[in-house]
Parts: sequence; C-alpha cells; structure tokens
Amino acid sequence: MARITRRRPSSGAATVTTTVEPPPAAEDAAGLPDQPDSLLAEPAAETSVAAATPVASTPVASAPVAVALDVRGLRKVYTGHGRITEAIEHLTFTVDRGQFLCLVGPSGAGKTTLLRCVAGLIEPTAGEVLLDGARVTSPPPGMGVVFQEYGRSLFPWMTVRQNVERPLIEKGMKKAERREAVEEALAAVGLSDSGDAHPWQLSGGMQQRVAIARAVAYRPSIFLMDEPFAAVDAQTRAELEDLVRSLWRRLGVTVLFITHDIDEAVYLGERVLVLSNRPTVVLADVTVDLPADRDQLTTRSDRRFAELRAQVYELIQQAKAGHRPQPA
Ligand SMILES: Nc1ncnc2c1ncn2[C@@H]1O[C@H](COP(=O)(O)OP(=O)(O)O)[C@@H](O)[C@H]1O
Ligand SMILES: [Mg+2]
Repeated sequence: MARITRRRPSSGAATVTTTVEPPPAAEDAAGLPDQPDSLLAEPAAETSVAAATPVASTPVASAPVAVALDVRGLRKVYTGHGRITEAIEHLTFTVDRGQFLCLVGPSGAGKTTLLRCVAGLIEPTAGEVLLDGARVTSPPPGMGVVFQEYGRSLFPWMTVRQNVERPLIEKGMKKAERREAVEEALAAVGLSDSGDAHPWQLSGGMQQRVAIARAVAYRPSIFLMDEPFAAVDAQTRAELEDLVRSLWRRLGVTVLFITHDIDEAVYLGERVLVLSNRPTVVLADVTVDLPADRDQLTTRSDRRFAELRAQVYELIQQAKAGHRPQPA
C-alpha cells in the first residue's frame, strides 16, 4: 500500500524470486506500541450485528456513527479516441469510520474506475466523493492505496526500508520518528529481517507486504485496495488476507477492499457491496454477520459463511446476466 502520489515508479522490477524465507505469521509480529487505545479497540459495527440477520439492518449502537467515505451520485464516462465508455452510471453509498467494506462486481464493471475516483486520481463526470467531509479533488493525505501490480508499486532501486520510509520523508516526519515508524511497520507485516533487501529479491507476496507496511507506517485513516492479492498464490493470499484483517482490527482504519473473489469478500468484510455490470450501479448491500474473530479454517467452514457466499454468488450471477435494480 502506498500513499497515493501521482508519481509512479518505473516497472523495472523484473526478477521475482522466492528464495527468501517466508515471514512469520502476522499475529506473531510486533504491534504498533504507540497507537492510542482508541485505535486498538474492536470496531463496534461488527459486534453489533445480530447473529442471523440476513441483510443490512439497523445498527444497535445508539451513538451516531461517523461517516468516513461518502460517495454521492457518482458517474464516470470515459471519452476520447472517438469512443465513449460509460463505466459508472450511478453510485451512492457511505462507509462508516473504521468499517471494512468489500466491493465485488463482474470484471469490467467499473470497480477500478470507482477506486480511482475515490483516490482523487481521476475526475468524476458527475457526483462527488467526500472523505471525512471534504470533497476529494486530488489525492488526499491520509489515504493509503494498494494495487494488484506489486511489481510497479515499489521503487526497485530502493531497499525495502527506503520504500517504506519514502512517503514519511514527503510527509515531513523527523528522522528518528521515521526510523521508528518504519521498523514498527515492517514488524507488523512480518518483514523485520528484510529491511535491507530490494523488492526484486522478494516473492510477490512479500512485495505486497512491503506495500502494506508502507501504508501502515504512514498511518492513513483509510486503506483503498484494488484486487491486491489477485496475482499471488492461494496460500500466500490466505496469509495476506489474515494480515490485512488483523491490521484493520489493530489500527481501527477504514478499509475499502475491491475484489472479484466472492469468498475473499465475505471472509474479509463486515459488509459486501455487490455491483452490477457496466455501467455500474449498486445491486445489493450485504451485511456480513460473522463473528469478528475469523480464521481460514473455522470461518470458511461456518454454515453462515456458506449462506452468505451463496447469496453473493447468486447476486454476481444476476449482475453478469445484466440484472439491474428496479427503479424505486
Ligand atoms: N482510461 C480509460 N479510458 C477508457 N475506458 C476505460 C478506461 N479505464 C477503464 N475503462 C473502461 O471502463 C470500464 C470499467 O473498467 P474498470 O473500472 O477497469 O473495471 P473493473 O475494475 O471492474 O474490471 C471498462 O469497460 C474499461 O474498458
Ligand atoms: Mg479493476
């Protein structure tokens, strides 16, 4: 994950090896000791959902929940080269502060387009995106993004440590503070021993850990992730899923996680937003009422997990068949 900047490193990282020992499990990694207590707290929303409630329900908490991300009437039409592509027809949804929202939809639906609008990288044709109440018009500070192409998101000529430190220098953080933040973040993703390595010496999964460490060190209030684990093997993917969930619980950060993998969406999210095919609208908003403590074996064999998975699968099939919600 990287704090968004318009600069992109070159795609020069060619050699990917798997010769380095895999990092320890995320849960074994050192924490981030100077996080205030409030950031260590369990996000409230997940525990407040009744055990067998099928779809979106009234929150139990009486205190008002702060909205972190507010997408209002978003529309995006690409024009150019004599072609017009309507990617997003209309999207309106909010993400509460500290919530883990997964977004699934068919390939080509407009998911990346949405993420790029949210990240302030492209301008919507209509509508707006508000982050913490402020309209997004350019890449906002306090936002960490991780893309699928890990080979292009890290600077190959810098060490792992330098890659993680880079945005902190841009942020103006002092040297001693930077060092501490970098070491904590590397420990949090299980890469304490790889700080001196270069990205091209690491496996794909480890490179994604570096990208995640970079965002953790920067302490964003929101993580945007666009199919971040689509290019790694299944076992690494499971480890990275658990890493992201444990970091989310520890840091209390808001997460918008895009995936085309139904199981991944249900396993990770507190909520799954299902998108129609292009031009995109929201097809369904599914509350994932699974316990907050999740693990690959128990959660995935849970009957409720199977039900939710089937529900989202059915919705995706409908999306692919061109189903659209009835106008109100
Ligand atoms: N820069 C662009 N210019 C023109 N069309 C684009 C551009 N980026 C994406 N599209 C088109 O917009 C649609 C949605 O693309 P995208 O957001 O990448 O979908 P997804 O991430 O859901 O697979 C596709 O038809 C794609 O070809
Ligand atoms: Mg995409």
